Amino acid sequence: MKEALEDLRRKADDEIRSAKTGEEFISIKTRYLGRKGLLTSLLRGLKDVTPEEKPVLGKLSNDIKKSLLEKIEKALEDITSSEKHSSLSKDRIDVTLPGRGVRCGKIHPVTRVEREICDIFSTLGFSVVEGPEVELTYYNFEALNIPGDHPARDIHDTFYVTDNVALRTHTSPVQIRTMEKQSPPVRIISPGKVYRPDSDISHTPMFHQVEGLLVDENITFGNLKGTLTFFLRQMFGSGTLLRFRPSFFPFTEPSAEVDIQCVMCRGAGCRVCGHSGWIEILGCGMVDPEVFKTVNYDTEKISGFAFGLGVERIAMLKYGISDIRLFFENDRKFLEQF
Ligand code: DAH
Repeated sequence: MKEALEDLRRKADDEIRSAKTGEEFISIKTRYLGRKGLLTSLLRGLKDVTPEEKPVLGKLSNDIKKSLLEKIEKALEDITSSEKHSSLSKDRIDVTLPGRGVRCGKIHPVTRVEREICDIFSTLGFSVVEGPEVELTYYNFEALNIPGDHPARDIHDTFYVTDNVALRTHTSPVQIRTMEKQSPPVRIISPGKVYRPDSDISHTPMFHQVEGLLVDENITFGNLKGTLTFFLRQMFGSGTLLRFRPSFFPFTEPSAEVDIQCVMCRGAGCRVCGHSGWIEILGCGMVDPEVFKTVNYDTEKISGFAFGLGVERIAMLKYGISDIRLFFENDRKFLEQF
């Protein structure tokens, strides 16, 4: 029996030495040491040996069992740790690699021009205020001296929400909201989105305006001309020629429209300016006393001027863009040019 035990140890050792994978070691373990394994079945012969041999053989078989188990466990441990190591080294992160680079966004040309407009008027002491885009028709029309049956309502085609609530058709209602809250002097500009159901090469249902309002004692049309001339020359260059043409708005009297000399043809006449050499750029005028009355300003003491301009229109002229819809298509090739 001793022979058989030693023989078994040798065979097992040989197998352990040549085994490589975890599966091989586990199968050796079950084959020799498992409940139905070779060592276990050998030990069944112990009952037939002499009482003197029993403890010696018992000890030998325990030693064999222990040493085989140790060798197998150790081998299995080595395998797991080397597998871990190789998977770690495969997944290694190279922290010295350069990063993937964040693509830089650009300011939208409409935002850019809107900010530029606000910056220019800020240098003249105007502060920026905002008003709601969903507006009471009272502020959008009536308070600006545009009653319900006034023809001016027709040219301001309107998106109505209810009978007396609409998407504002211009930024002028901010004038009223400001004067309701504040007594003169007032010196504000108000940029923002406005809405009209129009869509073609020069109209989009949503576009941007900047409204301006200045109210104080002794304000004249001369102040209006000086302010807007300064603004337009900052915007389009110091040599820019402009002209004031009489016009009509229900909330200003007298009213004017301002043209600049065509930036495309420098006044020679081209398609952009309809061969007139001039391009209309904004509406303005002296605030109508009717408007002052609705906000309880004393028309004997104060006067003021107001103006409104389209941001897209200015951006189109400044950058030579011929179709207003380009601003809202979000084509990156277009937007990245600015
Ligand atoms: N609200 C006018 C429009 O949308 C623009 C305008 C004209 C505003 C004259 C004014 C102004 O403040 O005085 O067409």
